[in-house]
Amino acid sequence: MIYRTVLFMICIMVHTSLFANDGKTLNLLPLPVEVKLGTGQFQLNEEVVIIAKNSLALEAQKFIEKVQSALGFKINITEDSNAETRIYLILDPQLNSKYGKESYKINVSTKIITIKAGGDEGAFYALQTLRQLLPTEIFSRVELKNIDWTIPCVEILDYPRFDWRGYMLDVSRTFADADYVKHTLDIMAEHKMNVFHWHLVDNNGWRIEIKKHPWLTEKGAWRMQPNYPKRGITGRYGGFYTQEQIRDIVAYAKERHITVLPEIDIPGHSTALLHTIPEFACPNAKTTGYVRFFNDFPQRGKPFDKHEGSNAVCAGNDEVFPFFDEIIEELVSLFPCEYIHIGGDEVNKEWWEACPKCQQRIRDEGLSDSDELQAYFIKRLESIINTHNKKLIGWDEILEGGITKSSTIMSWRGNRGALTAVQNGQKTVIASNQGYYFQKDQTDNPLHPKQWPGMLTLQTAYEYEPIPLNMPQEQMDLVLGIQSALWTPFTNKPDLWDLAVYPRNFAVSENAWSESGHKNWEEFQQRVQKHRLRLAYEGVAYWREASERVGQWTSEDLKSPKGLVIDVTSFLTQAGKYLIVLDHTTGTDGLEIRSVKFLKNGKPIASDFHYGTTEEGSDKDRMYFVDLQSLEKDAKYELEIGASGFGGMDSNGDIHMFKP
Ligand code: ACM
Ligand code: ZN
Repeated sequence: MIYRTVLFMICIMVHTSLFANDGKTLNLLPLPVEVKLGTGQFQLNEEVVIIAKNSLALEAQKFIEKVQSALGFKINITEDSNAETRIYLILDPQLNSKYGKESYKINVSTKIITIKAGGDEGAFYALQTLRQLLPTEIFSRVELKNIDWTIPCVEILDYPRFDWRGYMLDVSRTFADADYVKHTLDIMAEHKMNVFHWHLVDNNGWRIEIKKHPWLTEKGAWRMQPNYPKRGITGRYGGFYTQEQIRDIVAYAKERHITVLPEIDIPGHSTALLHTIPEFACPNAKTTGYVRFFNDFPQRGKPFDKHEGSNAVCAGNDEVFPFFDEIIEELVSLFPCEYIHIGGDEVNKEWWEACPKCQQRIRDEGLSDSDELQAYFIKRLESIINTHNKKLIGWDEILEGGITKSSTIMSWRGNRGALTAVQNGQKTVIASNQGYYFQKDQTDNPLHPKQWPGMLTLQTAYEYEPIPLNMPQEQMDLVLGIQSALWTPFTNKPDLWDLAVYPRNFAVSENAWSESGHKNWEEFQQRVQKHRLRLAYEGVAYWREASERVGQWTSEDLKSPKGLVIDVTSFLTQAGKYLIVLDHTTGTDGLEIRSVKFLKNGKPIASDFHYGTTEEGSDKDRMYFVDLQSLEKDAKYELEIGASGFGGMDSNGDIHMFKP
């Protein structure tokens, strides 16, 4: 018993020493390696100058552009100055050799801030941290007066746990426009994430312009959605990125020190491709219905894989390899990333099993089965990719049937694939569906849109430990990092994606950047609470648990010419994206909703126009984000809801509002 008590006390002591990091008090996210809070503060005002040269002056410029909308004044950059209050940005080769180009040190005293960086990346990340050290309002998109812009005196040493801190977005199931992609990159950069994995091609749409094969997007980027026309929405759905847009996005990412990893998912998940070029399907497969699925939209409740059915490019067809060579050639010209992601997951081999060409290939190459045929296919792709001086990365199924050691494995079925990969001596990225798949529901709150079966809470994402603690060092060195993902079959509005991604991506950024020894769920939760106010100022539509019922509607309201207007002045606490959810409770008729607006002193100032319904058993798109850029004291704020009874007037329900 005494032994146990002593052991417990030692544990507590070890625990506490790890926790002495003032980054927690300062709500820094991700948490830096070491933070020591001093006394006093630095005043940021128009007199302050930033002293930086060359590439660091560019880093300083990016910081200034970010903060000047809130400050309302511009900070000057110069190569030399003896102004009374100064911020120095310096490259430090020692820091670079010890902790790498992403490392940095910040020393804030009352008159001078010195930032030393291992490289431009380190300077960029230091300035993200500096922004978080300022009052929350620094994230505002509009000028805020009467804020004391101070930075506490502090010493920080920081560098990342992992080199690869990724996030994947599936734009095939649902298309996102270029602005949304840039918004995603902005939020990633603020959280020191540095790989944007762009899932550009899958069954449900080919989203990248290929100059040599324009029909891939002319035909393959569009599908018919039989569910939608009955609501008055056109049945043709889709979109794609032109090469010009892609170059622009890649450059935008580079400014934020983010690498864009393109994925063309083959040989499975190829319905969009086979719809466009049916000759690439196995000859026996042409009538098995892939076009039908392509014309369908994924339905909740139908297992996705079964629904997709066969989806593979014929591995016995020699024409497909020169074709992929041409595709890869164009990818290489667009993406400076050292890797090309070829997918390789969930290849349905039914067609291969029955295909004379695939079976001939198996005999010719002395392969034993379809798994080895898959490995053959991937190896041929790898040699094509290597001739373009790039490396192949693929989902963990590419381990099946044998694979070259030079390929890199992205482990999605938990971390099993990663463990096999490092035992083989292969590099790996852990993108586990158990820890980091954001299409899974994060709450059982009935007001949250339903997504994918299965639950993955913020706590699960935070506490998920990607690597076994006893992994030998030489294997650990092969783990490049971790990555989260959003697959988008169920959510067709990017605001709803933000809801799914944040705050869970904060947890991933913390796990990717900060040492796992600091983990403490209670503490992290408090930091997220504070941190989300920063994101509120930026207008990010993240999920929050607590809602308030701000009003109700009744049959009488629907009959009244005045419509639905609710005074919400007392509910509004700060600027940000407010989430309003309408919830039908009683009556035989639901509600058809057209718009939700904020009125300030009777005048509309912000709105979300889209068609939504709430009825018993079938709610659709009934969440409204209304973005309040600033909040003025003494003004009267109302919520105006444009809606009518669905079928009749017998309808009653609640109006919920989620504060930023
Ligand atoms: C995957 O989720 N199929 C990679
Ligand atoms: Zn075949």
